[in-house]
Amino acid sequence: MTEIIRNDQYSIHALELGPMENFIYLICDHKTARAAVVDPAWEVPEILTLARKKGVIITDILLTHSHHDHINGIEQVLQHYDAQLHLLKPEAEFWGKYLDLPTLHHGGDHIELGDTEIRVLHTPGHTPGSACYHIRDHLITGDTMFVWGCGRCDLSGGDPELMYDTLRKLAKLSGNTLTLPGHNYSDKTTATMEEQVEGNPFMHFHDKHKFVEYRMHIHDRVREEPYHAEPAPSDE
Ligand SMILES: [Fe+2]
Repeated sequence: MTEIIRNDQYSIHALELGPMENFIYLICDHKTARAAVVDPAWEVPEILTLARKKGVIITDILLTHSHHDHINGIEQVLQHYDAQLHLLKPEAEFWGKYLDLPTLHHGGDHIELGDTEIRVLHTPGHTPGSACYHIRDHLITGDTMFVWGCGRCDLSGGDPELMYDTLRKLAKLSGNTLTLPGHNYSDKTTATMEEQVEGNPFMHFHDKHKFVEYRMHIHDRVREEPYHAEPAPSDE
């Protein structure tokens, strides 16, 4: 377990759980002792133990998207905590679940976790309703962006053209924004947006068609985990 972030208002802990190197994040608001768990999956007792140790109550569950390896612990969390589930409306529609949820979001919505404000960004590409969660200068990216990588776009609901647009938008966030990805696929667990823009090959494209070709047909043949930073080619 790692406490990645601690400031005057909140802390964010990362748990690497399950067989697919998933990162599950626990965001704790200090003043109210409320917590949100992002993408509860795999070894849920570890998440519950961490919450108990920290003396927080899990009041919210945030989903970055609906793939099995990000959601398979929801029910187990709900057996212990009366938590509200949050996801984007287009993801619920894609998934075909939770369509009546009062906390279905649109991009740009805010979630109040006590005094900690969490902005929901709609970041389609990996799935139609993928979300990133933006808290001050921290960005929980799910499978949209990894350290030196991005989510695949060849599964159901994936769209590499939308992924290109999404990554261009994320690149406009402040350079000191720390990206917290949904999987541990890389030589380090977090990177700033400035580092991503410099060293993430998916951020080097200025031509959508070349990006699509690279994402769909080239990347998986030429790169292996753990991913390392790559310098931008001089002709791009
Ligand atoms: Fe995924």
